[in-house]
Amino acid sequence: MRADELRRAWTQFFVERGHTSVPSAGLIPHHPSAPMFVNSGMMPFVPYFLGEEAPPFDPARAVSVQRCVRAGGKHNDLDAIGRSRRHLSFFEMLGNFSFGDYFKEDAIPWAWEFVTEVLGLDGDRMWITVHTSDDEAEDIWADSVGFPRERIQRLDKDNFWEMGDTGPCGPSSELFWDFGPDEGPDGGPANPAAEERYVEFWNLVFPQYFRQPDGSLRDLDAPGIDTGAGLERILGVLADSPSLYAADTLSVLTDRAQEVTGARFGGDRLHDIALRLIADHTRTVAFLVADGVMPSNEDRGYVLRRVLRRAVYFSYMLGVEKPVLPPMIETCVELMGEAYPELAESADSVLTIVSREEDRFRRTLRTGSTMLDSHIATIPEGGTVDGTVAFTLHDTHGFPFEVTQEIAAERGYDVDEDAFRKAMADQRARAKAAAKGGGVAVGDEVDAFRAVLDASGPTEFVGREVDSTTTTVVGVVPGAEGTVSIFLEATPFYAESGGQVGDTGEITADGARAEVLDTVYALPGLHRHVARVTEGAFEVGDEVTASIDSERRAAIKRHHTGTHILHWALRKVLGDHVKQQGSIVLPDRLRFDFSHFEAVTPEQIAEIEDLANHEILANPEARHYETSMEEARALGAIAFFGDKYGERVRVLEAGPNSIELCGGTHVSRLGDIGPVKIVSETSIGSNLRRIEAVAGTGPVERLREREAELADVAARAGVPVGEVVDGVGRLRDQLKAAQDEVKALKKQLAGAAAGNLAEQAVDGIVVARVDGAERNDLRELALSLRDSPGVRAVVIGGAPEGGGAALVAATTEDSGIDAGTLVADATRAIKGGGGKDPRLVVAGGKDPGGLDEALDLVRAAAGIA
Ligand code: SER
Repeated sequence: MRADELRRAWTQFFVERGHTSVPSAGLIPHHPSAPMFVNSGMMPFVPYFLGEEAPPFDPARAVSVQRCVRAGGKHNDLDAIGRSRRHLSFFEMLGNFSFGDYFKEDAIPWAWEFVTEVLGLDGDRMWITVHTSDDEAEDIWADSVGFPRERIQRLDKDNFWEMGDTGPCGPSSELFWDFGPDEGPDGGPANPAAEERYVEFWNLVFPQYFRQPDGSLRDLDAPGIDTGAGLERILGVLADSPSLYAADTLSVLTDRAQEVTGARFGGDRLHDIALRLIADHTRTVAFLVADGVMPSNEDRGYVLRRVLRRAVYFSYMLGVEKPVLPPMIETCVELMGEAYPELAESADSVLTIVSREEDRFRRTLRTGSTMLDSHIATIPEGGTVDGTVAFTLHDTHGFPFEVTQEIAAERGYDVDEDAFRKAMADQRARAKAAAKGGGVAVGDEVDAFRAVLDASGPTEFVGREVDSTTTTVVGVVPGAEGTVSIFLEATPFYAESGGQVGDTGEITADGARAEVLDTVYALPGLHRHVARVTEGAFEVGDEVTASIDSERRAAIKRHHTGTHILHWALRKVLGDHVKQQGSIVLPDRLRFDFSHFEAVTPEQIAEIEDLANHEILANPEARHYETSMEEARALGAIAFFGDKYGERVRVLEAGPNSIELCGGTHVSRLGDIGPVKIVSETSIGSNLRRIEAVAGTGPVERLREREAELADVAARAGVPVGEVVDGVGRLRDQLKAAQDEVKALKKQLAGAAAGNLAEQAVDGIVVARVDGAERNDLRELALSLRDSPGVRAVVIGGAPEGGGAALVAATTEDSGIDAGTLVADATRAIKGGGGKDPRLVVAGGKDPGGLDEALDLVRAAAGIA
């Protein structure tokens, strides 16, 4: 069976059983409890399992084929890739899901029906495991399905699945295939020595709990079913091959890897590892980049970089000098672009980004090897490479630790891994301290928020229609530093999200007033007004008037719609690889982070501003409306964050060209944005840029500031504003002339001093001490002395202004004296070193205390002592 046939059979089977078919989500998860990457089919559905949102499916069932990456975090298979035939960093997970709908008694028999009847697998080759506590699952397997109890085993931790350090979890039941006695001892999956023989290919999880940040378990609001069958694993089982690389989606890539690298399977073990690794990593790299991750030194970007570099490094070890990833990615796109149209759509930018990174890393490999070699040259043979050197190589040159180890080992050296890990841990601690907090809220406060949500449901947001409304208080929770969280039935206050800051304003009632300092989501859907009560008190049930600061909101709106226009203009000028990586929308400015591989030039910035302002001045309508995710996709709306299938989403059409998903608040015509001006462009990581811009009244304010600065400059230059450029030019000319004059005078002085010194020559040799001059002046002095009549050699010692000691020796062509030899002993006396030119030596040293002795040594060497 081929991958596309299996995907289709899977989907069809579950659609026939009432499931809604849901396309694969991207690899960047959205739920605050989620780990770094989408690592399983269930992750896009977490809000439904948690009961935070109602599943938009009727009945509440879904089927999907989800792309997954397991690299980093709890489920991390990276180190095993290549060495093992059973691990992948990228794979496709077939899943069927129930959100508080059906449970074990349906999920188990359906699994059986699918594997035996649709796939035609031999039930006698299968084993089942269930959790030690789960009598129910065992009974369903034995009694409803008729599976022999002697091949059902009970395991503890292995049959308890968790999404990550936090998130949904629960007991599970797994299906195993027995690849036969050639692959290992018998004893079923419970025998740890037999893991190559009994291979799990489908996991039925019964999520019942939520693992909280403090490690405790809380019951799920909507326990259900989360099953995950590895597509590659099933294809392996169908081919009766214990290797996942039997799947066509991988075998085509390993074949291509053989062509590209010239290595062959079945010879050298390193070749087998490298070929599998390159095939696996190609998919991971291609999909991560397509989903908006850029290689960098942090977070997801770092994992991507590491995976990409490993693939390149393994090809480097095979002796392949030319780029390997671009041809591999091309094949991957051909192979999987139909099942995952997002990959095909971004193929060009994926290739550009990956090629650059591969080129860069190949350069790193060359310079890093050289640096490492020179460090190795300083340590005794068979010694240990300093862990902090390995860290520097890793940190500043992106040289992977394994590569350092590998190269060191080749030369017979160890690397101090403990010191390396320590340096890494220190750096991580620093980064963590620097990163701003986030994620799931903890403690009693959250329980109180949850109680409000349970009692009153989500807050009704009316802030798109009105700035002020009368409503009822549904919760009051005291908070830190005299603040209080007020919850309302309906609110015009926008809660911070999608980069847009929360609204401020006031909540008033008879005899009571609270100033709202910020608005955030306490829980999804629950607006929390962080307030300070300035008069009276608020209680649940109070009728209040809630009013936002309208002027501030209007300014925020201008910057938010302005962000969309700039995003469009950026993509237009720089290319479609530009993807939003984060943004902040404030009343007085906006910040937009995006992927791009080099600095944006001033010309490009001007072009972007021109495009944006032109669009704004045409003053088209900005339409902001709600629709389904499918409709939004069909419209071509750009969405990198938060796209969940089935959801009602808001689309912003900001004029004829910009169309994006956005839940923020916006102006209704582009002209309302006012002029837009980019005020800075910086790098915030590799392949990550940040622009800051101002809209509305911002550009005028900025212009005014600049004018004031210009007036100040003109006043200081003593010219009218209109002549400031000429004025400053004149000042510079004057300065230059003055500097030249100083130089000439210094030269004259030196000449005079030289004349004096020349008179002191003994046997044509001048040896003198001159302190306080700059090194270069000493050199000049020595040279002009050497040219004085009757002088054939000069040695000047001095303690220059900058500290240390200097020694300059100059000899004439026909003196027969070698300058280096003349000062050799003296240089040692000042603990210094210098060049070897026979006519001129400028030596520097650390110790001015040794200068007099040094000059005596020169006299001795010259025979004039
Ligand atoms: N979440 C489970 C797994 O990933 C089943 O989908 O194995």
